[in-house]
Amino acid sequence: MPARENGAITNLSSSSDTLINLDHGDPIVFESFWKKMGEKCSVVISGSQSLSYFANTKNLCWFLEPELEEEIRRLHRVVGNAAAEDHYVVVGTGSTQLVQAVLFALCSSASGETPPEPVSVVAAAPYYSCYPEVTDFLSSKLYKWGGDAQSFDKKGPYIEFVTSPNNPDGSIRESIIVKKRGEEEGKVVHDLAYYWPHYTPITSPARFDIMLFTVSKCTGHAGSRIGWALVKDKYVATRMTKFIEVNTIGVSKESQLRASKILGAISDGSLQSSSNNFFEYGRLLMEERWEKLRQVVGRSNIFSLPKYPQEHCLFTGKLSETHAAFAWMKHNMATEDLEKLLRGKKILSRSGSRFGSDQSYVRLSMLGREDEFKLFLERLTAIQ
Ligand SMILES: Cc1ncc(COP(=O)(O)O)c(C=O)c1O
Repeated sequence: MPARENGAITNLSSSSDTLINLDHGDPIVFESFWKKMGEKCSVVISGSQSLSYFANTKNLCWFLEPELEEEIRRLHRVVGNAAAEDHYVVVGTGSTQLVQAVLFALCSSASGETPPEPVSVVAAAPYYSCYPEVTDFLSSKLYKWGGDAQSFDKKGPYIEFVTSPNNPDGSIRESIIVKKRGEEEGKVVHDLAYYWPHYTPITSPARFDIMLFTVSKCTGHAGSRIGWALVKDKYVATRMTKFIEVNTIGVSKESQLRASKILGAISDGSLQSSSNNFFEYGRLLMEERWEKLRQVVGRSNIFSLPKYPQEHCLFTGKLSETHAAFAWMKHNMATEDLEKLLRGKKILSRSGSRFGSDQSYVRLSMLGREDEFKLFLERLTAIQ
């Protein structure tokens, strides 16, 4: 069980000038677990180790460390959140690189021809704000941001990102366009960065053609920059690997070895009902934060938060609800600019307008430091 931390603000000055940055989803919240693990998760890499670009030339993804692949597959089996048996594993420098790799793989041809017009990339609003940013960053001839999947009615090929649980609002989602049009013209990429038991009940193993995961949101090791894709189609996996080859000639082996150690530790811990169970520890931390936030928000009629249904989690065996990585908070006056209002109280958030929604919403990180979260609650209480 996580130590329920009491009132004192430790590192952060509680002065009214202190800026609280809840804009980024930097996952520091789990640091206390990893401190508790001490040396158990340390990795020592000698000077003579991992010199080569290559990890396994027999593997389609030739820069993927075999032990990382093994630990990824084991973790999915232990948690039961994805059926990975029929899929290739492609490792990336964070899942941000995999988002770019998948766009390249789905829109390019091996002969180098470009499509007659860029393929539309869409996601249902509110969508993860990096999808439009990453898609249009290089003004590619291959693909172009097409906006909200719900209003998308252009004929021709498209790629839909489905994020579930969703960033920013924590909702459980499925493809919008496939439901409307069928599967012929489009490809769906499932970004399952938050489909882990500390955020949401695991209701069944995901079985999609392309699924993205990241160590950043699973274990909190965002600094290692390791993500992975589970890809059913060999050609798509090969093209994603090609993208990463040209982009960065593979992925840091030091990071891969560290990630495999960390993933191995959480698989081992998940099989024990002890304090080494990372997901149980993380779930209680997230639950506690959500309880506190709901108490503060519930005391007034100014703000509202999404409600999530109770579901049976196959991993914990318990009935529980989503405790999302972000709070998607709304000002109940639709005309209010909530990001601006909070900025005036020295709380940085990300405006709903960045997610294809409106300015009465903000996204607030629930993954920051404990002292920062407490100060945030104090300031939010004072707004009432
Ligand atoms: C839905 C989603 N996908 C991908 C990412 C990128 O993660 P990474 O740190 O692996 O690049 C994030 C990070 O916030 C995210 O929220």
